[in-house]
Amino acid sequence: MRAVIRAVDFFVPKRKMANDELAATLDTSDEWIRSHTGIGYRHIADSSQATSDLAYEACRKVLKRAGVGAEKIDLVLVATATADFLGFPSVACIVQDRLGAKNAGAMDVVAGCTGFIYALETARNYIAGGGARNVLVAGADLLSRIVDWKDRNTCVLFGDGAGAVLVSADPADGERGVLRSVLRSDGSGARLLERTAGGTRFPFAEGGADPLQAVLRMDGRKVYNFAVKVISEGIGELIEKGGFRLEDVSWIVPHQANARIIEAAAKRAKIPLRKFFVNIEEYANTSAASIPIALSEMSTRGLLKHGDLIATFGFGAGLTYGGNLIRW
Ligand code: ACO
Repeated sequence: MRAVIRAVDFFVPKRKMANDELAATLDTSDEWIRSHTGIGYRHIADSSQATSDLAYEACRKVLKRAGVGAEKIDLVLVATATADFLGFPSVACIVQDRLGAKNAGAMDVVAGCTGFIYALETARNYIAGGGARNVLVAGADLLSRIVDWKDRNTCVLFGDGAGAVLVSADPADGERGVLRSVLRSDGSGARLLERTAGGTRFPFAEGGADPLQAVLRMDGRKVYNFAVKVISEGIGELIEKGGFRLEDVSWIVPHQANARIIEAAAKRAKIPLRKFFVNIEEYANTSAASIPIALSEMSTRGLLKHGDLIATFGFGAGLTYGGNLIRW
């Protein structure tokens, strides 16, 4: 049974924040942010919105686009590192309820910015194993709520958003579908990107967490080096394991963290930069949402044709990395 992406859509908050707005309160500039990251804008949720609101909108839109009723969904997967609540309830359960997906199981997938790739592969396996026919897979993050707005090393990098796909079992003998994935992790780098407060290691209740632990901290240089290495080595592995050559691939859809990471990885892997889809200027790094947002924009712009071979590739907190090979 093939796991075919039937529809893709996304949602970002209305409020669009330009680099110049950040420069008004921080020691930074549009020139620095653009030249070091490729970012021009980010969309920022208002105080009434939580991650589940963004995920719900993306999921609602994708079901409408596919013309499929919520009661047909067997499983809701939400990849997120910024759940509405710490630990429980999951974002997926909140979304499941709001959609009226009354026949669905629901769970979050926590793999940092690689979350959507992990969740899509989970959906593929449920479908291939016969455990589900229709799986809603969302990537949703609201990083603006957990960054330190006084830390220019991190706050300029992120934006809020959600993207979603409907993945369905297709018994047809065709070639379309999520063909395979590579999922990897390197927990030795766990502390390079962390937000420690409120878990069982530094619980709030015992006064063990200070306010600085409530925001995201990152060793940007080390994450940069890690990202360039795993993307440049991992894309080739993903394509070869699928039995394909680079020439067979129409698009590489990388996690949108920093345009310079993508450029450096392309150069190191000797892959033409034009094969990589990049939309970071508009959205900044939306974490688990970045790849489904990119796929949705590509689809709307007519860049994805039936039969195209697409390779996604992401990396992020955990550390995690990996990619999916998709016949569109
Ligand atoms: N504006 C102006 N100057 C800045 C800013 C800013 N916004 N941010 C950093 N700088 C300064 C630094 O303070 C430093 O100044 P110094 O030399 O006086 O100390 C200087 O710029 C150079 O700093 P570097 O860290 O060397 O800058 P670099 O070129 O490495 O860019 C960046 C930093 C953009 C963070 C880069 O390292 C990066 O992209 N890292 C990866 C980050 C990432 O992708 N994280 C997401 C992972 S995914 C997930 O799961 C969340």
